[in-house]
Amino acid sequence: MKESSTVELSIERLSHDGRGIAYLDGKIVFVDNALPGEVVEVVRTQKRSRFEEGRAMTILKAVPERVMPKCEHFGVCGGCSLQHMNGITQITFKQQFLAEQLQHFGAVTPDAWLSPLQVDSYGYRRKARIGVRYVEKKQKVLVGFREKNGRYLADIKACVVLEPMFGTRIEEFEALIRQLSNFKDIAQLEVAMGDSDAAMIVRHLSAFTDNDLALFAKFSETSGIAVFLQPKGLDTVKKFVPTDSDDYLHYSLPAFDLVFDFHPNDFTQVNLPMNRLMVEQALALLDLQPEDRVLDLFCGIGNFSLALARKVAFVLGVEGDALMVKRAYHNAAKNNLSHVEFVVADLTQSFAFADGLAINKILIDPPRAGALDVLPHLIALKPEKIVYVSCNPATLARDAKILSENGYRLVTAGVLDMFPHTAHVESMALFVRC
Ligand SMILES: C[S@@+](CC[C@H](N)C(=O)[O-])C[C@H]1O[C@@H](n2cnc3c(N)ncnc32)[C@H](O)[C@@H]1O
Repeated sequence: MKESSTVELSIERLSHDGRGIAYLDGKIVFVDNALPGEVVEVVRTQKRSRFEEGRAMTILKAVPERVMPKCEHFGVCGGCSLQHMNGITQITFKQQFLAEQLQHFGAVTPDAWLSPLQVDSYGYRRKARIGVRYVEKKQKVLVGFREKNGRYLADIKACVVLEPMFGTRIEEFEALIRQLSNFKDIAQLEVAMGDSDAAMIVRHLSAFTDNDLALFAKFSETSGIAVFLQPKGLDTVKKFVPTDSDDYLHYSLPAFDLVFDFHPNDFTQVNLPMNRLMVEQALALLDLQPEDRVLDLFCGIGNFSLALARKVAFVLGVEGDALMVKRAYHNAAKNNLSHVEFVVADLTQSFAFADGLAINKILIDPPRAGALDVLPHLIALKPEKIVYVSCNPATLARDAKILSENGYRLVTAGVLDMFPHTAHVESMALFVRC
């Protein structure tokens, strides 16, 4: 359907991805850039048999929850979808969504709700994969995210959600790449930043000339961003400049007197101030005692494990990626922690690693798919308390049902705004054995 016909609609509520919901002749319409209570003029972009999609172009009646998006590319770039909502509305929407999912898929409600966690909402994103494409028609290298619902990269000048080290440099990245001899063969940039140090990995499909390499060296010197090159798969990522430092970036958890080394390729939380709050809240919920023996499941490089190790007698971090476990051990040694161990294991398969460990508390932070196959093993250990950190309310709700059917009470739950301005919902729940 062409973006032509417009229609005036009243928005009734929000969909799970933060779009306004309206009805047109009894049919549901999902409307970008529209809030409940508003009357908007909508350009209809998709017409399907059971629903339509559109975008509010003119706000005929606005509600007080609406704010001016900070980004001039909002609506075109697919990176964000909620910049038109004020912060409190965004977080309330996420907390309500979590409540609905828990009720709908889990048939559970927590005894009490946690106050949502929020920090500064712009310039937070310290890890991102950024697309690169040479567009013949525009005679231009584009660097950025995909357009909303589109196959193409959005033509952006800056990104206010990315850490300013990267977000203010979009045009600089474009200019740098355009000067390279093989500018058509740059596939993507992966950027990563610690507390203050930054890196980018350049994925390239053909070799660089000496002049290209000199351009990268100059860029790194002036920007302070370390440049890694990746000619093929992940195992080919290699630091190019600067040459007088190691390959690590660093982030800290000051409340636990911890500093982590990580490689720009490693999984790390994208929002470091929120990560600090998240770790503090998770540990507070576990009500840790010096004699506790804790499992940290899906532990990555030990983000929660090392903080736990500052508080309890024994911690075992379990993770499927051997490289992450190597990094976790490196970080334990760096922080002089000896009563924390790590093991490489596929958590869906077996918990043989826990035999005889007398574990009494568990922290679990699974990927989006949740922990369906993990829960039978976990429940068999009969931990007193489980803190479940989730990046997908639907799988958390499904898993909450299984836990509640197996002797665990959902004591408290709440959201944390790890990804402001997007519909992504990160949450945390405490289950206690009855
Ligand atoms: C959401 S991340 C959590 C990382 C860590 N807790 C943190 O805060 O940085 C999920 C982790 O689970 C690991 N993972 C995914 N599937 C797994 C499996 N079946 N068994 C073990 N680990 C797995 C991934 O490698 C990733 O490090």
